[in-house]
Amino acid sequence: MNRWKWIPVAFALAAVAPAQADPVEERIAASQAAIQTFASTLQGHLMEAMQEGGPTKAIDVCRQSAPEIAADLSAETGWSIGRTSLKLRNPDNAPDEWERAVLEEFDARRAEGVPAAELSRYEIVEDGDERMFRFMRAIPTAGLCLTCHGTQLSGEIQHALERFYPEDQATGYADGDVRGAFTIIQRM
Ligand code: HEC
Repeated sequence: MNRWKWIPVAFALAAVAPAQADPVEERIAASQAAIQTFASTLQGHLMEAMQEGGPTKAIDVCRQSAPEIAADLSAETGWSIGRTSLKLRNPDNAPDEWERAVLEEFDARRAEGVPAAELSRYEIVEDGDERMFRFMRAIPTAGLCLTCHGTQLSGEIQHALERFYPEDQATGYADGDVRGAFTIIQRM
């Protein structure tokens, strides 16, 4: 009998055990990490474009990079990852029923004084045979965002937005508002 055979099994169990102890905590942490990657990659592209070509160039970058980053991260993780909002710029980002309810809850809690950066929500949702771990984290509106999501937009920006987003609703935000949320679905 070769006793070495037992060793990989023991290792495998040791590796799996902590994950099984609290799988929801693991899923939350992994979701937060993916969101962090999404946010910092997009912010990097945005800042670079603003510095190089000003806000109109940045609109172009947002329009192309945001969906690309979401698609890349979704492919990498096997989850569905995106951004959504109650007041949309890109109609492709429309919330489903569950997301809409969570966005409304975020707005209500923000109105009670909870900082937007502290708002997140998860739930295990069952739909027929399917079980999904769903996670959302609010996206706070910061100073930088107001150039394109604030109340007073420059003529140039307004013009560019009208061209690409004729039904844009994503303006009129103030510093600290919930602009929208990152949203993740992990099929279980
Ligand atoms: C240079 C202009 C510009 C700036 C600055 C900007 N955005 Fe946007 N934002 C856009 C454009 C364009 C879209 C649509 C992207 C797309 O087509 O997916 C968008 C879409 C979004 C969406 C997706 C929901 C929707 O309405 O379609 C969120 C959330 C968002 N922006 C948040 C922010 C936040 C938070 C900041 C500040 C950190 C920010 N944006 C800064 C132009 C901008």
